[in-house]
Amino acid sequence: MTAGEQVVARCRALAEVSEERGRLTRPFATAAMARANAKVGTWMRAAGLAVSVDAMGNLVGRRPGTDPAAGTLLLGSHLDSVRDAGAFDGPLGVLVAVEALARLGPLPFGVDVYGFADEEGLRYGTAYLGSRTVAGTLDPAVLMLADDDDVTVAEALRAFGGDPAALPAAARTGERLLGYVEVHMEQGPVLEREGAAVGVVSAIAGATRAELRFQGQPGHAGTVPMEARRDAACAAAAWVLEVEAAGRATPGLLATVGRLTAHPGATNVIPGRVLASLDVRHAVDADRLGTVATLHAAAGAAAAARDVSLDWQVVLDNPAVAVDPGLTALLDACVHDRTGAPAPHLPSGAGHDAVALSALCPVAMLFVRCAGGLSHHPAEDVAAGDAALAVDVLAALLGRLAAA
Ligand code: GLV
Ligand code: MN
Ligand code: MN
Repeated sequence: MTAGEQVVARCRALAEVSEERGRLTRPFATAAMARANAKVGTWMRAAGLAVSVDAMGNLVGRRPGTDPAAGTLLLGSHLDSVRDAGAFDGPLGVLVAVEALARLGPLPFGVDVYGFADEEGLRYGTAYLGSRTVAGTLDPAVLMLADDDDVTVAEALRAFGGDPAALPAAARTGERLLGYVEVHMEQGPVLEREGAAVGVVSAIAGATRAELRFQGQPGHAGTVPMEARRDAACAAAAWVLEVEAAGRATPGLLATVGRLTAHPGATNVIPGRVLASLDVRHAVDADRLGTVATLHAAAGAAAAARDVSLDWQVVLDNPAVAVDPGLTALLDACVHDRTGAPAPHLPSGAGHDAVALSALCPVAMLFVRCAGGLSHHPAEDVAAGDAALAVDVLAALLGRLAAA
């Protein structure tokens, strides 16, 4: 089996590890995450890495360097997933790193491969629980966020075998870190259109996530007159269309309401409560923040027009991230070496663990072409030949860093 075939086969095998029958859904601190850590841990050990799980449930595979003063390079991506996910978003980066190390001899610096425990934020709305822990930027208030079953992050973590009290010790602050390099599927159509197997990330767009609660009054669908209703679903619906309009009106802006649940959720009951999520992205922070403010006001107005109250909570607010010019130039050179052509540069609209790690050390990212630009979709696909090139490029980068 080639290195690329190995990576793809492992991503597909890992996609069988899910909380839901028949589709891939692997949220933070669940039994499926524990099984995923065990499976990837076996592959890490086979590549000569010393494997552990940190206090936040991040899987770590370490390979010490030959020169303890040379510091450590961090690699990896995430092992959690969205609901009904594809096989490659996250695991590709972890398994490309494992494969690159499996083929390299001793290096002066240490290399730690992370399989981060939560990048998507499926269970708690906020994202980067794993990588923010490593970066030392996790706000302890996040530990009290509750999931749909009222289980807090702290409770979920304890049940998983993690330790909220030990989170500060899982941070990699105060160490000599050479940087964090993440390989990830592109999740968009650009590389495929350009006929390029890999590309180098030029910047990562900023993102805001908010959780909304529209609270009205439930009642009988057959008796309460229309003008007397306090229908939370009507308020939310009016607002959702404003979100779409804002996204269409601002070039480069992406605005999404991905979760919308009406309660109590019966055909003949006026919805008294609606829970909704908001996700806003833009490469320019001022444009993103301006839109978020507008949509906050719009939600308030849509609620007030129906005598519905609004609770608005921002659960993630990340500015756009610049990548490190030095590491990025090295990635460029490695791609050029292997393909004979300059690497396409492209911005990332998606968030990545590199966003959180950018607070800790220099970051750089390599994107791998995916079929049809599909991601956050079960049909995600990455070709073995493209994964093989990513392994080659990452191994070459490690070689160049060792020679520097
Ligand atoms: C992660 O996939 C994100 O960009 O939401
Ligand atoms: Mn994702
Ligand atoms: Mn991802």
